[in-house]
Amino acid sequence: MKKEIEAIRREIDAVDEEMAALFLRRMKAVQAVMQAKRNAGIKVLDREREEEIKRRLADRFDGEGEKEALQEFISCVLTLSKRFQYRHLSEKSVVLIGFMGTGKTTVGRLLAEKLSAPFEEIDEQIEKERGRSIAEIFATEGESFFRRLEREKISELHQKILGEARESRSLRRVISCGGGAVLLEENRRSLREIGYLVLLTADLSSIRQRLSGDRSRPLLLGKKDAQVRDFMKRREEIYCASNPDIIVDTSGKSPEEISEEILGRLY
Ligand code: S3P
Repeated sequence: MKKEIEAIRREIDAVDEEMAALFLRRMKAVQAVMQAKRNAGIKVLDREREEEIKRRLADRFDGEGEKEALQEFISCVLTLSKRFQYRHLSEKSVVLIGFMGTGKTTVGRLLAEKLSAPFEEIDEQIEKERGRSIAEIFATEGESFFRRLEREKISELHQKILGEARESRSLRRVISCGGGAVLLEENRRSLREIGYLVLLTADLSSIRQRLSGDRSRPLLLGKKDAQVRDFMKRREEIYCASNPDIIVDTSGKSPEEISEEILGRLY
């Protein structure tokens, strides 16, 4: 009995080794296709192709009895492959801009995780450095003081990233800015220089829903829908003037969906 089990185990070990070798072969091919796409100036990520692979294998193994397990298996392989691709995309940073409640921080964190890149949250850094919340800074020193701090932070980050690029140590980052960061032309210019500008938008009801009960945005406190709508309209012009690389409507979408859409459209 023991001998029989040992023999079966040897078979399992042999299969694992074969699978590991096949997996490495697949990763090599993935690397090669990324390079070929780059050389041809084609976007690296291709969601449709992923769906096609899943569909084709599902059809091929239809009626095998273990169809679900096989589908799960190929999904895992594709997830690992995607994770690998994310880590090897171009080194350009991603800068998220847009109105409050469009998901810049949540999506930014997720993007940074997917890209294995450091995450820079401008507002959070200001709060940490000053030891006070944005709402407190607005209440005590006023908005223009906050805008100065915001300018300083963006300028600091801009210098750091350009310095690294000069020394060829460029490190991709995901940067999330406060909704008013692009009000200043200087900020717009700095942010443009350090990465892809991604403008997140959302409809009023999504914003209201995401920020329900929130007391940390002084510019929205006590504002009625019509006032917020008006505010959004005025901001829209400034956001578009930043000349974003892509605009992603986040209304009714999950952070996972939004981050995948951004990656697929940028790289
Ligand atoms: C602001 C947006 C806030 C924060 C501050 C001002 C704005 O950031 O910077 O309350 O002017 O739109 P979020 O967009 O992350 O909420």
